[in-house]
Amino acid sequence: MESKFDEKLFAGREPFTIFRRWLEEARKEELNDPDAIALATVDEEGMPNVRMVLLRIIEDDGFIFFTNYGSRKAKEAFSSKKAAFNLHWKTLRRQIRVRGHVEKEDGLIADKYFSERHAGSQTAAWASKQSETLADRKELIERWSDYQKKFKENVMRPKFWGGIRIKPIQIEFWADGQYRLHDRFVWERKLGENVWNVRRLYP
Ligand SMILES: Cc1cc2nc3c(=O)[nH]c(=O)nc-3n(C[C@H](O)[C@H](O)[C@H](O)COP(=O)(O)O)c2cc1C
Repeated sequence: MESKFDEKLFAGREPFTIFRRWLEEARKEELNDPDAIALATVDEEGMPNVRMVLLRIIEDDGFIFFTNYGSRKAKEAFSSKKAAFNLHWKTLRRQIRVRGHVEKEDGLIADKYFSERHAGSQTAAWASKQSETLADRKELIERWSDYQKKFKENVMRPKFWGGIRIKPIQIEFWADGQYRLHDRFVWERKLGENVWNVRRLYP
């Protein structure tokens, strides 16, 4: 029996179009956080590390998530200047993998995103020394309350908190197929170039 291939699923002249379309579909289907990505970085010794973050902005040429610049992920991303991430939508049975180069985004985009967050989350960003040892949850709550009192209204974005942009050199789309005859297409380009090449991979 022949396994079917859905041509329209993978159609696009460049990968961001396909990425956006798949994410829109996931927004309708996934119960929670369709934009949650497993973000991989490596430490100075090349030891990998992975954790979830929310992919908040998709630009024409890059992907942005927000975090504390003192965190382990930020330190690793900035020292290696590289990162990768994976999205897996269980209901759609699809996966997207991205590998790319890292830039700091601590300007207007970070300001705008921060200003739209709930005030409680804004002060939580101030209160958290993300990835450092915390002896007691009480300490975190006290720090948070202190910042709540300090900023009565308009909470400004801390300098140590902002966006990280990943400029992809590789984006791979995977869709589940019958008998594990899945479909995979990988789009690749060189850093700084906007010419994408696409090829199909064995599943
Ligand atoms: C669904 C989900 C979304 C998350 N989103 C973020 C995020 O957008 N930014 C962030 O800094 N941490 C986020 N976290 C927490 C991270 O997974 C992680 O615990 C934290 O950032 C510290 O990671 P690090 O020590 O490797 O830097 C999220 C966790 C989950 C489970």
